Amino acid sequence: MAPLVRFFRGATLLGQTPTKEEQTLVEHALEAGLSLPTNCTSGTCGSCMVTLLRGRVDVPEALPPGLDEFLVDEGARLGCILRPSGDVDIEIRPPI
Ligand code: FES
Repeated sequence: MAPLVRFFRGATLLGQTPTKEEQTLVEHALEAGLSLPTNCTSGTCGSCMVTLLRGRVDVPEALPPGLDEFLVDEGARLGCILRPSGDVDIEIRPPI
């Protein structure tokens, strides 16, 4: 089966779409029928922050201004700039 990006709020599955590794999480959310909040769309403001529950959404070694090590450890990912790999589950709320 093709890998999927699934979006949750708590235990509720809000939508899912096949993983396209060239697309951001925000773009996947749109394809799943969801609209994640965005502002800067460049990794600076944190408006698009979601929580990685399962799978891989890699962060660059030089973290963007909207993330820090603590947030990354808590599962925070920025939907506007980061891309999923394989099967990924996302909580649409930030971790803290
Ligand atoms: S929209 Fe600003 S960090 Fe993603």
